[in-house]
Amino acid sequence: MIRTLTIRRPDDWHLHLRDGAMLRGVLPETARHFGRAIVMPNLVPPVVTAADAVAYRDRILAALPEGADFTPLMTLYLTEQTDPEDVAAAYQDGSVAAVKLYPAGATTNSASGVRDFDKVRGVLDRMAEIGMPLCVHGEVTDPEVDIFDREAVFIDRVLDPLRRATPGLRVVMEHITTSDGVAYVADHHKDIGATITTHHLIINRNHILAGGIRPHYYCLPVAKREKHRIALVEAATSGDRRFFLGTDSAPHTDAAKQGACGCAGIFSAPNTLSCLAELFEAADRLDRLERFTSLNGAEFYGLKPNAATITLTRGDPMDYPETLDTGAGPVTVFDPGFPLHWHVA
Ligand code: NCD
Ligand code: ZN
Repeated sequence: MIRTLTIRRPDDWHLHLRDGAMLRGVLPETARHFGRAIVMPNLVPPVVTAADAVAYRDRILAALPEGADFTPLMTLYLTEQTDPEDVAAAYQDGSVAAVKLYPAGATTNSASGVRDFDKVRGVLDRMAEIGMPLCVHGEVTDPEVDIFDREAVFIDRVLDPLRRATPGLRVVMEHITTSDGVAYVADHHKDIGATITTHHLIINRNHILAGGIRPHYYCLPVAKREKHRIALVEAATSGDRRFFLGTDSAPHTDAAKQGACGCAGIFSAPNTLSCLAELFEAADRLDRLERFTSLNGAEFYGLKPNAATITLTRGDPMDYPETLDTGAGPVTVFDPGFPLHWHVA
């Protein structure tokens, strides 16, 4: 049995860091293990201009623990008012790595997202010209569409037409949750990648709803049936270059999650790598963990893998706190439901 594993320092290609006291509380959990992260722009108000992104990056850098080896990669929140030239200049001078598309109303803090895709055509065309990635929250918001079908319907109604209308646009389908998402990426070789979260590799919809309602397993896109989870595990452990880790670690205080209308988001930053090592080991694919966590995403974004490495060691089940106390309040840590034997040195 393999007992230690050294891999390139991982990157997180989809992460929520928030701001203020919450940022200061959660950032060390990511910076401990990850070299870089694509930082989501859904603050209130959202990060919409290059100047907003640079100011947010500076707040993140100021919140980093001493000696941390972590670089935030910033994103811009696409709105119908976004200026193509502001976006292009920010990409070309390195202050922004990608643009994030939220369909209006799809998820937490997405009210300023896109309603009319004709209004963002200029931005998308400019991005295709310069090779700048578009990160997509792939769910329709039509109230007529069942929440468990919203990803599959998005692919047909929005994603595929959008990609056809914008040849050369590089798209990341974020946090895919269905075999439809996996199949779409598998069938389209050019200019497409997908992130997969840790929790969608581990939970299905029963975890949320069977035997009691469990708000700490509620996130968007919502976890689907077991057959979809299995398809995600296959994709993540396949070594296919188009699939990479985006934890979507999305902290909310317990108070915000445990109410009668709890918000969406799972906080997995503290134990994500231990969860993934356990999962890849169970699939007999530990040798492909590095591709998923540390190589594929960097390649898609045109970056070198991190030079530094981390070592995972197999040992007794790990003790980790159930909640992280942040200055904004306690945040529950993702519980995979099985013991975690892999410790990150
Ligand atoms: C995210 C959040 O809380 O910001 N929530 C979530 O359930 N994933 C938003 C998002 O990425 O959809
Ligand atoms: Zn997210």
